[in-house]
Amino acid sequence: MNELQQGQRRREIERQKRASRIPPQFSKASLQTYDTTSGEAKSAEDRAVALARANNWFNAYKQAVVDNERIVLNAEATVPNLAISGLVGTTKSTLAACLLNDALELMRTRLGDDISVRWWGVNDLLHAIGAAIRDDEREDPEPDACAASLLVLDDIGRHRTGAKSEDTFATAHLYDISNARLEAGLPTIITYNGIAELNRALDKSVKSRLIGTATLVETAKDMKDLRTSR
Ligand SMILES: Nc1ncnc2c1ncn2[C@@H]1O[C@H](COP(=O)(O)OP(=O)(O)O)[C@@H](O)[C@H]1O
Ligand SMILES: [Mg+2]
Repeated sequence: MNELQQGQRRREIERQKRASRIPPQFSKASLQTYDTTSGEAKSAEDRAVALARANNWFNAYKQAVVDNERIVLNAEATVPNLAISGLVGTTKSTLAACLLNDALELMRTRLGDDISVRWWGVNDLLHAIGAAIRDDEREDPEPDACAASLLVLDDIGRHRTGAKSEDTFATAHLYDISNARLEAGLPTIITYNGIAELNRALDKSVKSRLIGTATLVETAKDMKDLRTSR
């Protein structure tokens, strides 16, 4: 690769990172650097268990990508969804970002530049879909969310509920996305606080598609909120 090509490639990589919408604070997150040593012993232990589970899932994902030599995994190579649950501030989003960044890196080295990984906070996603419906000028993010080779849905269950129309809207769109991904054999990583919140916020049809056969990772049994406990 000459200097010009290298420059183009670097810009392409940057473009993909931006397009993935991984929040800037997680832009360097990776399973290699996820910290399982600092802080209280018990909390470090919880993180070590969560990391080991996440690594197992990622190895299965990696195997499927390598076997298929393609980004869009087909139904035979289906990798289960990954459901990361835990209290607020227990590194759920960080772990999801580690996986998304590492997947981006893996696909880039194995498969070249045609990569689509996506990060969406569920609240933001629903707002963006609503805005696109009201305003033709805005791009609808739903097709991308359906088709991305790997999608993170962060903080599902925290999307606003209450008004019946909002619930119906959220259910309809989350159903379409989770169903499209299931049918195409595309894995989704979801993060949520706990099963009670999920039951309150999600229709059974959506819950079943997202976590029915998912690999479960719990970031915290005894872990304190790492945002406020330092
Ligand atoms: N592996 C880790 N070890 C220690 N602290 C971490 C680790 N990963 C993230 N943190 C810190 O923990 C806090 C919460 O992380 P975050 O992933 O946002 O949690 P959650 O999504 O569960 O609310 C952040 O302040 C972050 O800097
Ligand atoms: Mg979070």
